[in-house]
Amino acid sequence: MQTHQYEAIIVGAGGAGLMAALYASKGGAKVAVVSKLYPTRSHTGAAQGGIGAALGNLEEDKPLWHAFDTVKGGDYLVDQNAAWVLANEAIDAVIELEHMGLPFDRTPDGRISQRRFGGHTSNFGEKPVRRACHTADRTGHMILQTLYQQCIKHNVEFFDEFQCVDLIMNDGRPAGIVAVSMETGELHVFHAKATLFATGGWGRIWSVTSNAHSLTGDGAAVVFRRGIPMQDMEFFQFHPTGIYKMGILITEGVRGEGGVLINRHGERFMERYAPSIKDLASRDVISRAIYLEIRNGNGIQGKDYVYLDVRPETVNRYLAEAGETRRIDRDYIEKKLPDILDFCRTYLGIDPVKEPMPIQPTAHYAMGGIPTNVNAEVVIDANWTVLPGLYAAGECACVSCHGANRLGTNSLVDLVVFGRRGGMAIADYVKHADYTPLPPNPAGQVEAELNRIRNSSGKTRPVELRQKMQSIMEAHVGVFREEKGMQDALDCVRELKERYRTDLTIDDRGYKFNTDLLEAWELGCLLDLAEVTALSALTRKESRGGHSREDYRERDDENWLVHTLVTRKTDEPYPQGPVELEVNLDKKVDMSLAAEDPRFAPKARTY
Ligand code: FUM
Repeated sequence: MQTHQYEAIIVGAGGAGLMAALYASKGGAKVAVVSKLYPTRSHTGAAQGGIGAALGNLEEDKPLWHAFDTVKGGDYLVDQNAAWVLANEAIDAVIELEHMGLPFDRTPDGRISQRRFGGHTSNFGEKPVRRACHTADRTGHMILQTLYQQCIKHNVEFFDEFQCVDLIMNDGRPAGIVAVSMETGELHVFHAKATLFATGGWGRIWSVTSNAHSLTGDGAAVVFRRGIPMQDMEFFQFHPTGIYKMGILITEGVRGEGGVLINRHGERFMERYAPSIKDLASRDVISRAIYLEIRNGNGIQGKDYVYLDVRPETVNRYLAEAGETRRIDRDYIEKKLPDILDFCRTYLGIDPVKEPMPIQPTAHYAMGGIPTNVNAEVVIDANWTVLPGLYAAGECACVSCHGANRLGTNSLVDLVVFGRRGGMAIADYVKHADYTPLPPNPAGQVEAELNRIRNSSGKTRPVELRQKMQSIMEAHVGVFREEKGMQDALDCVRELKERYRTDLTIDDRGYKFNTDLLEAWELGCLLDLAEVTALSALTRKESRGGHSREDYRERDDENWLVHTLVTRKTDEPYPQGPVELEVNLDKKVDMSLAAEDPRFAPKARTY
């Protein structure tokens, strides 16, 4: 086993990890990034349509309006201090990316081009605003390339294809991580003063998802197993437009460019659900509308999908109806949405310029995760107590700038704004902090777990457990939920966990590139997070944002303006039997903007 020592270890090489590494390194820290993927293959690359910032390049815009939309879109579970940081620092972050060389699309006069996106409005909800800065439909991909180059330039070291499997704690203090070198199967200990997790989400809990195979929640699960709570896990976003059955993301940018959702009768049904903002309502509203259409027999051919139509003749008809002078043609679509056209032509044999696209909601984004404050410092209780030396940023973190439902484009803002803040905080911290000593045999517990899986001789293959988990979570902890279904899902996940512990088998017992072993270990992470998700969802007896209960249909601001914190009641990361979970509901939502401006106070959310 090899041991490395760095002042800061960043786990994950997506936008948040790279931004944190860059800023920690620029601040003088000795930094390494540990990533199970080659950095430019990270899932930030799948973010298509844009990064929101109130630049006002095409029409008037203000950070306060962006913050308002973020709070309203998050159905008032947003911590308002975090929403303000997000909206206010987005402008500077986008300009910084531009100066680093990110090739944004341009307006005719050379400024960064912006497009509409769901829930983004001007003047406190008056009308849709062009806020999403973009590079065609490859914005996340361009952010990754840009930040990776900057990290190389600023001497960040990279351990690619090293999978983090444990957080090392000693006497309640973080001391680094354990990672598996995928090439050799060897365990490596990374001893660090500061560790930041930026490992993305866990959409692979559900069967239809926009998330890559790698999105298995490793970072969140590892931290959770070491006693850190998981916050607001009931809120998982279903993006309205995934390719039917495959889940691959069709960017909201399609609707931002004028595309519309159509049912079997050719009706633009969002006119009924969100009369003012229509197809640009927030994602939770649109995903519910699609399911209601399907439930009422209005899916295409009566099936479980609807159409997304961006054919120029359709878009131009609705633009004319709305009194807009803008018109689009085939060349415009080819230029603005090249990847979407390519996906549909490749995977569906459909040309979106000539035919509508079959779509259904797809599990997309975790609003919950590792609780942090606005400096990406991990907080461990309802009193915002910071655990020194531990940080999280990006999708695996819950700074709660997205509340109960994230607005499109705000994930990329979150990555760069809070990744940057995390990197700065780390650079400061490591100047004064000492290394927490490594405990004896720091990799021992996870090594035992990996050997248990490697040598297991049960009857159950991981794929069987994974598919059962995905189908029950899709059926009962998806867009619509109710008590009995969620309880069934929770019971089922617990049973699957037991079989995972006692009856597993895998084929590859070797060390080198043993993806069979690592995928089985990842399944353990997914099961842990699925259990927390189902339990949190059962606990929250109201409907809010992405958590829509058929048995509690109303939002209940009197009782539920609180965050859900779930903790394990054991110190053992891999205990021999079932683990009891504890739910805490004492963490109140920050309402600092509402305290000064009543427009930020919770009100019924209509569009
Ligand atoms: O629709 C999209 O392009 C996705 C963006 C996001 O999740 O922010």
